[in-house]
Amino acid sequence: AIERTFSMIKPDATKRNLTGKIVDRLESAGLRVVAQKRIWMSRREAEGFYAVHKERPFFDELCEFMSSGPTVVQVLEGENAIAKNREVMGATNPAEAAEGTIRKDFAESIGENSVHGSDGPDTAKEEIAYFFAATEVVG
Ligand code: CMP
Repeated sequence: AIERTFSMIKPDATKRNLTGKIVDRLESAGLRVVAQKRIWMSRREAEGFYAVHKERPFFDELCEFMSSGPTVVQVLEGENAIAKNREVMGATNPAEAAEGTIRKDFAESIGENSVHGSDGPDTAKEEIAYFFAATEVVG
């Protein structure tokens, strides 16, 4: 089925001017960018976005990093978009990511791993709504 998922290009990648290269990977996989904006999250916005991880030992480091520079937030649309995006991203830890994936080719570490993508339909909905109004998503 045609789905929508939420995607984010993280500060390590925007800093290295990799936005276009990453968007090309997504589009080449058949995903369409139906909403996109460049933002600089506040610490509080990062904490809200990653609230599900607040008990994790890496939570502080994660929110510090995600508010350390610009990110590009996106809505991607396509056949099985959630799973397809996760496949194109590769494993969270770049050391475990498959050849040819975004994280294998661009990520610097498990924390500075270049991209985020929703892990399921419920989180996709929530994450899209966290950053985008319905009128900003144009399919
Ligand atoms: P993401 O898909 O954005 O969701 C949560 C993020 O936490 C994850 O990608 C990683 O970048 C980050 N993360 C996971 N494990 C660790 C860790 N051990 N140390 C630092 N960051 C981590």
